[in-house]
Amino acid sequence: MIKKRLLLATTNRGKVREIKKILRGLGFKIESLAEYPEFGTFKERGKTFEENSRGKSLFYSQKYPGLVLAEDSGLEVEALCGKPGVRSARFAGPKATDNQNISKLLRLLRYIPPEKRQARFVCVATLTQNGRLIKSFKGQVRGKIIATPLGRNGFGYDPVFYYPPLRKTFAQLTAEEKNNISHRGRALRKLRKFLEKSWK
Ligand code: IMP
Repeated sequence: MIKKRLLLATTNRGKVREIKKILRGLGFKIESLAEYPEFGTFKERGKTFEENSRGKSLFYSQKYPGLVLAEDSGLEVEALCGKPGVRSARFAGPKATDNQNISKLLRLLRYIPPEKRQARFVCVATLTQNGRLIKSFKGQVRGKIIATPLGRNGFGYDPVFYYPPLRKTFAQLTAEEKNNISHRGRALRKLRKFLEKSWK
């Protein structure tokens, strides 16, 4: 019998795949917005990952009978003063593809030398229920933006996000390797611990 339900407030298949792996075995029936088109779309208008993550989670928790987990994540590049930041998904325009976003990023960085290409991925995940905030969890990972995309795994900016300790881009990692070190993996492992401890 399924006792607990958890809605992942996203339709991004890359994110759903990664999050389901991390939350496996907790006894939740995990669903995503792909199964609930009638819930509509939350407009991200916040200036921070925290604001967007909370806003999104609260929005869907008024419609869903169970826990809601929303996350907002993105890339911050030092040489671009933190851009694309909360606009990561629509950096090259409202309906931009991953390739278009990457092209814009590489164009803006074309005169920046390798030693000044520091960047980080940030993720803030927020749990809510019945329109009430439960808790937010944050994770980040530092790396560098390389000039030529490498690798075919993952999504978004993964092919240009180089992680020096493993000498690979995120798109060259398996899903499991990425989850072990990624911003999302770090935020969601905190969330998982919280659920294991406080959500019986
Ligand atoms: P969100 O759906 O508003 O949170 O948009 C997040 C965007 O940030 C994604 O569409 C990607 O462009 C980027 N992003 C977030 N996490 C990752 C990741 O793990 N790898 C690559 N790009 C990411």
